[in-house]
Parts: sequence; structure tokens; C-alpha cells
Amino acid sequence: MNAINFISNYTMKLPSRVLNLRNASFLGFRHSCNTSCCERKLFCRSKAFLFNSSKNSQFHAYPSRFLGFQRVINNTEKLNCLPSFFPQSRAVSRPYGVSVEARVASRVRDLSTSVETRVNDKNFERIYVQNGISVKPLVVERIDKDENIVGGEVPLSEDANNVKNTGEGLREGKSEISVESDIEKEAWSLLRNAVVTYCGSPIGTVAANDPGDKQPLNYDQVFIRDFVPSALAFLLKGEGEIVKNFLLHTLQLQSWEKTVDCYSPGQGLMPASFKVRTVPLDDNKFEEVLDPDFGESAIGRVAPVDSGLWWIILLRAYGKITGDYALQERVDVQTGIKLILNLCLADGFDMFPSLLVTDGSCMIDRRMGIHGHPLEIQALFYAALRSSREMLTVNEGSKNLVRAINNRLSALSFHIREYYWVDMKKINEIYRYKTEEYSMDATNKFNIYPEQIPSWLMDWIPEEGGYLIGNLQPAHMDFRFFTLGNLWSIVSSLGTPKQNEAILNLIEAKWDDIVGHMPLKICYPAVENEEWHIITGSDPKNTPWSYHNGGSWPTLLWQFTLACVKMGRLELAQKAVGLTEKRLSIDHWPEYYDTRSGKFIGKQSRLYQTWTIAGFLTSKMMVENPQMAALLFWEEDYELLEICVCALSKSGRKKCSRGAAKSQILV
Ligand code: GLC
Repeated sequence: MNAINFISNYTMKLPSRVLNLRNASFLGFRHSCNTSCCERKLFCRSKAFLFNSSKNSQFHAYPSRFLGFQRVINNTEKLNCLPSFFPQSRAVSRPYGVSVEARVASRVRDLSTSVETRVNDKNFERIYVQNGISVKPLVVERIDKDENIVGGEVPLSEDANNVKNTGEGLREGKSEISVESDIEKEAWSLLRNAVVTYCGSPIGTVAANDPGDKQPLNYDQVFIRDFVPSALAFLLKGEGEIVKNFLLHTLQLQSWEKTVDCYSPGQGLMPASFKVRTVPLDDNKFEEVLDPDFGESAIGRVAPVDSGLWWIILLRAYGKITGDYALQERVDVQTGIKLILNLCLADGFDMFPSLLVTDGSCMIDRRMGIHGHPLEIQALFYAALRSSREMLTVNEGSKNLVRAINNRLSALSFHIREYYWVDMKKINEIYRYKTEEYSMDATNKFNIYPEQIPSWLMDWIPEEGGYLIGNLQPAHMDFRFFTLGNLWSIVSSLGTPKQNEAILNLIEAKWDDIVGHMPLKICYPAVENEEWHIITGSDPKNTPWSYHNGGSWPTLLWQFTLACVKMGRLELAQKAVGLTEKRLSIDHWPEYYDTRSGKFIGKQSRLYQTWTIAGFLTSKMMVENPQMAALLFWEEDYELLEICVCALSKSGRKKCSRGAAKSQILV
């Protein structure tokens, strides 16, 4: 039996002995151990080892856990890297004993509430985890480009061309022919210089490429969240290969065994970042290894909750823009989605449909008082759920998961729309709240004391417009305006159509505060004085109006542009893009700006920050080509609303009908 058939037919669960990475250095995992922690890295092993030991079937059964490139560098000489890791696995295997007929998710892509939905049905399929490693479905490894290509699949080289051609087609469909300005040319050249290769293939971009930076810290790594605008820039340019490589390599890192001291966090966790390291071997040879950081070396040791959500969102974007849906249909990719969702949808002590996370678990990755249910995570969670619903292959094994996704989507949107929304009218309601209410019908459900409405808000809130607050906890509303969460609520339709419009109205009305000299403030306002001491833990990087504490982040421009395109407010995006054109290049593409109006380059800001550069390029391309941008957002889904309204009606609180659902959204 040749190796590829063997792998695709082999469905046995692996014995734990083989799965346990602590014993697995022979499988291609670098492993060094001390008493308190273990460090593991992914590195390439030889083709001979991977594919010629078919006598020992257990080693074959887990090919996806190797990085399928071989790379040994002999001083100056490079050996060929084998792209053994880019199969299209449509024709694969029966994981968990369930027949997986690769029914394409295309119907779900358009009509994703079609799986019957029961509220609070949490009985979705679990992916069993043994000895710290998921039992992933098997992945067909491509051994040789010319042979053993699974029926009807497109060889990698053609596939890459397809991606390219799609992009070219899309460029041809542009409404106007645009000429690249000098700033754009400079940005493209910087973006390309930031590309990181692994075994000769592009797999991501470093966070910053500042030549004057003596202490790059972890800015020389590929961050998952930072790569998203780079990925979109490449995709919109018709270059899909780097994005595909990134998605597949990070998928491999997902199942990594990770530990903080003696504790291992959840299985589906995606790293915050990874680095390609060159490790010396014997005989003057070197090999490249991928070294992920799941938060175990990050400041504060916080798990990056947003990484997996971004990964799912990017996977959808890749399919939408390139038309290459085969990637998301692969069994290993489907499993990757499920692992992330398993973590997010796991039962816990929660009373709310929103995700409960620690401080610093997203773009704001230091202590900033956003622990609990921060809006940013909820909005990305909602977008990731909507993406997953479109991409999951529906079959017996996944239908419960799809049902759980629908339930969560509907409950989450109800929760956020109802309880996070503030405008003049709502603040006035809160101002007159009664407290200590005890019943199912309480108006002030979270026992908010009106005294906590901050004085800045009373003066600041415009008559037109409103926004979603940063966080909601018992007796606590965080009234700060967080830009990323609000923008993603628009983009994903987490907010109602009216709310989405009102958020942009507020940004327009408060332009000087939220945009000022440089789009856009990460949050408004900054915490100062005693509050700064308490909330940030006296963090000298997060002083008032700097960095995460009210600094201005040009990378947020692309998400603002996307929201503006969706809401038909292109002129607002153009105004913001215009501001960045005046300064970003002259200022050497900083990571962030300081002061109330974003006048100065940030105190400790890196220069040549990649997501600043990529965000600018992506925005420019979206403004020029709004039809393409339209592939990246979601419209209101009335079926989802109906699920929630019907659930409420069962508890006797609302009438169940499509009409009631529609009226529900008109806040
Ligand atoms: C900072 C930012 C984080 C970003 C990282 C790399 O830590 O807070 O969001 O991913 O830098 O740019």
C-alpha cells in the first residue's frame, strides 16, 4: 500500500503512548524539559522518516502533526523543501466513526440556519481529547506533486494559479482603474519586506520591521491578529498563497501541547504569535523550526482568546476572495474550526451567552480593566460563529454543533443589542434606574447604580448616535468606547441596523475625539489618576492617552473602512484615509500615536509596524473597490432573531413570530 492511501484509509485512534508529546521527539517535535515547564517546537523532519516507515502504522496516522516541509540548510546550501502538507483532503476518512461524506458547506454558506435549532441545546459533537492532544481526523499527505493526487483535486501549483487568477479576475472587475501612489508603493515594498518564510514559502509577516530597534522583544514574530490586515492586503491584490500557508501552518500549531508551569490550557487554542527559528544541527547544518507562543511567554501569561476567532474569520475571507473553498472543506481544517468552537462553546458557569475572558486576551494584551465580557471578544466571537456556520460541512456529526452555533448567535446578539447599547435615551433610563430589583421582570437586571454613569459621558454623549459599551458585569457597566468592538459589531451585524448606523453617527459627531489627527483611538476616554493606578496596575506603557489607554492605532483604519463601506458611508472612510496619507509615511508607519488627539508618535511606539502598513493598504483597496470589501461583512439575519424571540416567547416574555423578530431589531 503506498503511503498516501495508507494514510487516507487509516482511521484508528492513536494509542496514547504515541500521542503523548512528552515521548514524541522522534515524531519531529523538539522537546526539552525542565522541572517546571516544557518547551516544544515544531520542526521539519525528513521525507524518508515521514513516509517510508509504513510498517509502523501509528506514525502515519498523525501526519498532520508534522510540518510537512523538509528543510535542512547546509551552510549556504538549501535543500528542496517538500510541500507535503498541502493536500486537498476532500476525499478523506471517517473520523470518529461517522461517515463524512464531504458535503460541501455551500448551502450553509448562504442559508446557514437551515439546521433545525433548539434553544439551549448544547449537545453538540465534542472532539475528544486524549493525553493533551486532539484525535484529529486524518489528513492525506501529498507525497509527490505528480502522483497520488486524490480524485479530482487540483495540484498545488494549479491551485496557486487559481488563487492568482481569481485575484486577477477581481482586479479586472474594479470600477475604476487606480494608479498606485508613491505612498502605496512604499507601503507595498515594506509589507513585502516584512514577509517571513518557512522552508522557502511565505507564511506570515513580522509584527514590526524597525531597523533602528535594538530590542525587538516579540515584534519579530508573526502575530495571528496582526497578520489579518496583511492577509487581506495580499488577498485583495490577488496573492493567496501566503494566506493559505499561514492558515495551514497555524492550524498545525493549534494542537500543540502547551504548558504554563504544570498546567495545560485548552486544546483548540491558537497561539498569539509564532517565530521561525533556525536551529543548528550536527555537521554545520541547520533546520528551521516553528516556535509558537500561546501566552506562556507573553506579558501577563494571558491566553490570546482572539487568535482562534481571527483564524476562523480569515479562513472565511480567504474562501470568499479567492473562491478556493476547497481549503475550508479539508477535514483537518474542519477539525480546526471545531476545536476552536469547542473551547468557546464549552459549558461552564456562565449565565450569559457572551464569552468570559481574562484581562488582556485580545488586541489589548495588557491589563486595562477589560476582563469579564469585553465587547471586542464578543464581536469577534459573533463574526467567528457566523463564519463557521457558513464553512462547516453539515453532516450527522456536525449538525448538533451547527445548531449550537445558531442558538449562541441568536442569544448573543440579543444580549449585546439589549444590554450593551447606550445612547442619550438609554443613559437617561439608567440615570433613573431603581436598584435592588429582584425578579425575572427587573428593568435594572444587572443592578447598575446610576452613580456609576461617569460625568464625562453625560457631557459627551451626542443627541444623534450611540454605541455599545465596553463591558458588562454585575453592578458594572464599562462605559468606555472601544473602537474595535464597535466596528466589528457593525461589520458582523452583531448590532441592529439602526445601532450600526448610530455608531458611525457617533464617530462622525465625535470625530475630534475618536479620529483627531490620526485614526483611530483604541478606546475613549483614557483612564487617569487613581483610576489609572488601579485599572492598569500603574502600567508605565499605558499612561493616559498612550498605547492601549486612549492611544490612536492606525491599524484600526481598515476595520473602520470596512464598516463604512457596509453602511454606505464611504466619505467617512475617505476622510480618515486622507489623514493617514498625510502622516504615516513621513512618520515611518508607527504602531500607535499618543495624546488626546493623536498628535504625537507614541512614546514607545515601534516604527515600520506591519499592521499599520497593511491596514493602510487594505483600506485603500477597499475604498477603491467596495464590491470586494462587501465579501468581508455580514448582513442582518432575521432567522437568528426569530430563534431568540421564539425562545423568549416560550418563557412567556415575547410573542413568537417573524414579525416580532423584526420589530425586536428596531431598537
Ligand atoms: C502589542 C499589541 C498587540 C499586537 C502586538 C504585536 O502587544 O497590544 O495587539 O498584536 O503588539 O503588534
